Amino acid sequence: MANKYEMIAARVTGVEQVTPLIKRFTLVRQDGELLPGFTGGSHIIVQMKNADGRQHSNAYSLMSDPQATASYQIGVRLEEQSKGGSAFMHEQVEVGTELMISTPNNLFAIDQSARKHVLIAGGIGITPFLAQLYELHQDGADYELHYAFRSPEHGAFQEEISTGVHGAHSRFYIDSLGQSLNLAALLADLQSDAHVYVCGPKPLIDAVISTAKQLGVADQRVHWEQFAAAPATGGAFTVVLAKSGTELKVEEGMSILQAIEKANAAQIECLCREGVCGTCETRILEGEAEHFDQYLSDEEKVAQQTMMLCVSRARSDRLVLDL
Ligand code: FES
Repeated sequence: MANKYEMIAARVTGVEQVTPLIKRFTLVRQDGELLPGFTGGSHIIVQMKNADGRQHSNAYSLMSDPQATASYQIGVRLEEQSKGGSAFMHEQVEVGTELMISTPNNLFAIDQSARKHVLIAGGIGITPFLAQLYELHQDGADYELHYAFRSPEHGAFQEEISTGVHGAHSRFYIDSLGQSLNLAALLADLQSDAHVYVCGPKPLIDAVISTAKQLGVADQRVHWEQFAAAPATGGAFTVVLAKSGTELKVEEGMSILQAIEKANAAQIECLCREGVCGTCETRILEGEAEHFDQYLSDEEKVAQQTMMLCVSRARSDRLVLDL
């Protein structure tokens, strides 16, 4: 359960308003060296510090060409219910701002065993696909992109995609123009050796997963990614920290991490706070977790050996943790 990330001192060299809600940031290393290589679908964690010293960290997909590592690009949507990270990026970060960023990790990689790749993006969910499009094109792969967004002004990067080499592989669905993505028709036509990838709002991800299931598409052919802490849903439960014997009540709407921090009951390393980085992974000694993270594989979730304290909760009334 060691931290898989190293932190890099970076500087912002470009900020571009792409849509009314999305900005593109270009980042380089402060020491002038190349950044680490990555594969399409990778993300980094960006750490930010407010003037009042409060720290935020968010995961963002890398959207630049994986072969060009002099700089990274990320796209950040200003979230209405921002925990602070996206508002910080939009309001405080400008050319010259220095930030700590993590080395990349990929939880949404292209499956090399697939013969065809069907990419489905909703809104800001386009960002991991931009890096994947470079990779798929360079590999000479068979791919298609289906990109849905709410109105022409919100179609981030649409022009870049449609006028470049991916234009012939891409279709756009603009809600305000009455163009909707017919998932049932799209997935019904899926070749048996094709894989589906979806990124965007939760309803879109849920719809792709359930439509694929109804059509008998095997789970391992459906890949998805969503960055945002899952809402801490479900009733209250008790957590026991085995090493100290401390018992804590985790109230409805609260994460285990919040309960531990509120009681100052243990020091937990946590980088992203949204179930992506794996740094808060903790061993379960008794009870069952309800997993809401992106980090563990389906098999690991079923095994109930470890859990992410920042987003996951209990399925049982009581959880005993190796803390
Ligand atoms: S802090 Fe990143 S997974 Fe929990």
